[in-house]
Amino acid sequence: MPRLSAGQRHRVSFSLNGRPVAGEAEPRLLLSDFLRGVLGATGTHVGCEHGVCGACTVQIDGVPARACLTLAVQAEGADIRTVEGLAPAPGRLSVLQESFREHHALQCGFCTPGILMSLDAFLRQRPDASEAELRYMLSGHLCRCTGYVPIMRAALAARDRLREEPNA
Ligand code: FES
Ligand code: FES
Repeated sequence: MPRLSAGQRHRVSFSLNGRPVAGEAEPRLLLSDFLRGVLGATGTHVGCEHGVCGACTVQIDGVPARACLTLAVQAEGADIRTVEGLAPAPGRLSVLQESFREHHALQCGFCTPGILMSLDAFLRQRPDASEAELRYMLSGHLCRCTGYVPIMRAALAARDRLREEPNA
């Protein structure tokens, strides 16, 4: 990465949910703020802003990452996927989203985008994940509303359906 000066704006460009995007960012600007404030992609939520709650989780080159611990300039050239990119088509939900809807796995929905982005990547990597492994993965996300039981039910149901229909 070239040397960056504080206060100076730099052009940042990457792929967002399969589409090229670009904007200006100071070197200190967080990816979460760039997504929301510069690109208007407000599906990524911001809670703690220091890597604890998981609300801001996006996928960077397929790997879940805290957008509040990533600088926008670090995303240059990357393939970024956010919750806006999960649905397979307008008016449709992914298997995981559908499972969250069916199992009432959200209340206020603040934590939901981050949880979905982590689970989506995890279930693609680990289609045979055990309940214990799913619980461990979810321990990186804080939800103030649901008590986690419906989230686990939704995660397990999505895992089972994706095992049967991996291309659903
Ligand atoms: S806002 Fe990024 S982990 Fe909480
Ligand atoms: S649904 Fe409200 S914080 Fe999780």
